Amino acid sequence: MSVTVRVPAKVNVQLGVGGLRRDGFHDLANVFFAVALGDEVTATAAAPGAGTTLTCTGPDAGQVPLDDSNLAARAARLLAAHHGIEPDVHLHIAKDIPVAGGMAGGSADGAAALVACDALWALDTPQETLLALAAELGSDVPFALLGGVALGRGRGEILESLPVTGTFHWVFAVADGGLSTPAVFHECDRLREAAGTGSADTDVPTPDADPALLAALADGDPAALAAALTNDLQSAALSLRPALAATLAAGTQAGAIGALVSGSGPTCAFLTKDAEAAEAVAAALTASGTCRTARATHGPVPGAAVRTR
Ligand code: C5P
Repeated sequence: MSVTVRVPAKVNVQLGVGGLRRDGFHDLANVFFAVALGDEVTATAAAPGAGTTLTCTGPDAGQVPLDDSNLAARAARLLAAHHGIEPDVHLHIAKDIPVAGGMAGGSADGAAALVACDALWALDTPQETLLALAAELGSDVPFALLGGVALGRGRGEILESLPVTGTFHWVFAVADGGLSTPAVFHECDRLREAAGTGSADTDVPTPDADPALLAALADGDPAALAAALTNDLQSAALSLRPALAATLAAGTQAGAIGALVSGSGPTCAFLTKDAEAAEAVAAALTASGTCRTARATHGPVPGAAVRTR
């Protein structure tokens, strides 16, 4: 018996980063946006005592850890422990989301594994409980369950769904090699210290969602959304990976109406006026030699959901 769950990647259309908290996290005003680029996680029943096993296929499969640190395996064990059952399951990840790319691919797999195992084991766990378990796994995991567009507060796990009209068209330029999320947050703190503003949560004002950005989403206005895109981690990602400046410039030159680093990077996200423009920008970016590959997609799309069982 098997259950396959499809789960979206995310881009942050606003990533407001507050100061460093005493627990090592940063308070965020994080507007998550789920896009059609996604992974599939299949949970297959395993014999009693088999434990949790993992395989992965896809272009970046070689970079996915298949040990206990994998968020999908951790999710299966966490859900089983919550219900007092054994985590006997084989998980297969069909990976299309860039690894360590700033698109929450690992978090997506964690969310997908929660939903897949919940269905496989017929647990019927309430959504509220799944969201709480997801928050234990990582700051971006709850959003992958929810999908759509949502404002994340706290470290990103306190979510409020946001109204959106229509579909927005995106291009993602995938870089060679990933960036470590903790390293990018650390670089953000270092740049703030170097600028003399301080980096602690007592130095940096708590960020808030930008009303112009929320209105652009609600109105379905790509030009207004493009003008409001912001990422407080962008200067840190550019500091660690200066070549990303050329990627951002190439996409803008090719006709994107908005450009920013996705989350902690190094994937760059480009907003376009329609689907046709997205295909043209993706082709131009691929030809530019400033990224490994570029993908046209759209959103918002729903969160982790069972596709087949
Ligand atoms: O929650 P998650 O495991 O995805 O976070 C990975 C790391 O990213 C954290 O250990 C922390 O260094 C950094 N982070 C942060 N503030 C957040 C989210 C993540 O500093 N709000």
